[in-house]
Amino acid sequence: EWSMDNFIDIEVEKIREQVGNSKVICAMSGGVDSSVTAVLMHKAIGDQLTCIFVDHGLLRKGEGDMVMEQFGEGFNMNIIKVDAKDRFLSKLKGVSDPEQKRKIIGNEFIYVFDDEASKLKDADFLAQGTLYTDIIESGTETATTIKSHHNVGGLPEDMQFDLIEPLNTLFKDEVRQLGIELGIPEHLVWRQPFPGPGLGIRILGEITEEKLEIVRESDWILRDEIAKAGLDREIWQYFTVLPDIRSVGVMGDYRTYDHTIGIRAVTSIDGMTSEFARIDWDVLERISKRLVNESKHINRVVYDVTSKPPATIEWE
Ligand code: XMP
Repeated sequence: EWSMDNFIDIEVEKIREQVGNSKVICAMSGGVDSSVTAVLMHKAIGDQLTCIFVDHGLLRKGEGDMVMEQFGEGFNMNIIKVDAKDRFLSKLKGVSDPEQKRKIIGNEFIYVFDDEASKLKDADFLAQGTLYTDIIESGTETATTIKSHHNVGGLPEDMQFDLIEPLNTLFKDEVRQLGIELGIPEHLVWRQPFPGPGLGIRILGEITEEKLEIVRESDWILRDEIAKAGLDREIWQYFTVLPDIRSVGVMGDYRTYDHTIGIRAVTSIDGMTSEFARIDWDVLERISKRLVNESKHINRVVYDVTSKPPATIEWE
């Protein structure tokens, strides 16, 4: 009979058989799917696994340290953290078109990953957190479609690795269950989705260090207040966005002319459609006050009350 316990035992055996004495690399993002993949692989093959964690400088506050502490130290896994912030920011300089930003971030990610992976000369396999739904979404379940799916996902075609995808029969809720079973803390297993391009698509227009700082700090405050209000499981996604708007305000006796920050919080089943979350006014008031008080650059806070469709969840 199928159970999560069985699944782990069977997968571990399968992975060991497939890998033998070879080395495996894994792209770690800190997200649920790649974390569960890495921990499962690690359980099966231990030090034969090396994870590569690309920090593109567009991560949320605390994200990089969390990954290294939780997985590097906690699970004692080999993780190489690549600090590629400067590489990404210089490529993004002066670019304000959303699609172009996405493309640059996606491509640069592959270059950085490829550079690191090619240093690990004796690795034969690449482990990926592809889910069953990812395969379905890419069309049919045939092997060729799976491959093109990953090519679409951006892996260089000449990469000399065989793919291992231990989660490719699972749905998201099963992956979460598996994560718990493997000893990954609940707050990590239940994290909200975070897009690959990161904070880069939550700053509208050109990305600068100053804007990154504003959006990162405001996201941190929002997350803190949502958690304190006990809403972090109810709301599918909640984050701040920094539109390219300044407006006039008053602070004490002084006129200010500063940034507006937007709050996006939505309920959803699968991210395909969503509704704005009906957050209590009192909670919103607390968030608004903290955002203005704790950031030197925000003098106005707006709440996004559009559903998807017609809007999307992210603003870019
Ligand atoms: P939208 O904005 O299209 O987002 O309503 C739907 C869901 O997908 C996430 N998202 C991404 N996830 N890479 C990702 O891994 C991306 O480029 C990307 N863009 C959007 C978004 O956060 C939401 O959960």
